[in-house]
Amino acid sequence: MVKKKSKVGGRKKNTPPTPHRTGVTPPKLDAKQIPNHVALVMDGNGRWAKQRGLARTAGHEAGEASLLDMVHGAIEIGVKELSAYAFSTENWRRSPEEVKFLMEFNRQVLRKRRDEMNDLGVKIRWVGREKRLWSGVLKELKEAQELTKNNKVLTLNMCVNYGGRAEMLDAAVAIAKDALKKKIKPDSLSEKSLNKYLYAPQMRDVDLFLRSSGEQRTSNFLMWQSAYAEMVFLDVLWPDADRRTLWKAIEIYAERERRFGKA
Ligand code: FPP
Repeated sequence: MVKKKSKVGGRKKNTPPTPHRTGVTPPKLDAKQIPNHVALVMDGNGRWAKQRGLARTAGHEAGEASLLDMVHGAIEIGVKELSAYAFSTENWRRSPEEVKFLMEFNRQVLRKRRDEMNDLGVKIRWVGREKRLWSGVLKELKEAQELTKNNKVLTLNMCVNYGGRAEMLDAAVAIAKDALKKKIKPDSLSEKSLNKYLYAPQMRDVDLFLRSSGEQRTSNFLMWQSAYAEMVFLDVLWPDADRRTLWKAIEIYAERERRFGKA
């Protein structure tokens, strides 16, 4: 019998992820070896394009499939939350052409992929700063968020106009305002209550921080949330990455011993 909740608005919900084209399956690991939250720095699009004599934007276009494949692979292996660094607060420094491309690209990808994400049971959540973000992109992010808000299989944080320092600064301003209004007492602020001032208070701490392209930097991504994340830097350009890259990083993660400051 088909369960009632499996259909919403005439669409099938929680359809299983599509297997990888090679038929490869996730590595066999204990549930406790699987990171709940993986942060993705999708780096190397420009270099990938340059190697092929293409415009940088062709690298970003090719990177869409990598992210999508990772979403399917994350569900297969049991990851609960993925955060994708799609546009940073520092990316405004790129050429006006590339900024325009990235804004429009984010908007189009959200529009094109939101039903597929919804069918998979993915909750899309925008994480970032509103100021400066193009209204068309914001609208698309909010619509995707609304459409997928009750999904529970995986949360996909689309970090658009996101920066870790911007997030801290925005939190500090909001805390100062609340203190002036006597809504909070500065001395009673805790790590837990500060969390409420972040862009996405519900976000889990990052367990695995994965950056492609061989660069070994965090580039202002989720700095509060990644305080105890395991860092994995893989020498693959983002458009060449797919779920197998994610699984490889998870195998490396599974070998690490996490102590969280304990001896
Ligand atoms: C870094 O590559 C990537 C970005 C600036 C983020 C944009 C990422 C994508 C467009 C991939 C897919 C995203 C979505 C929304 C589906 P880079 O340009 O810094 O590469 P480089 O270091 O080789 O120049």
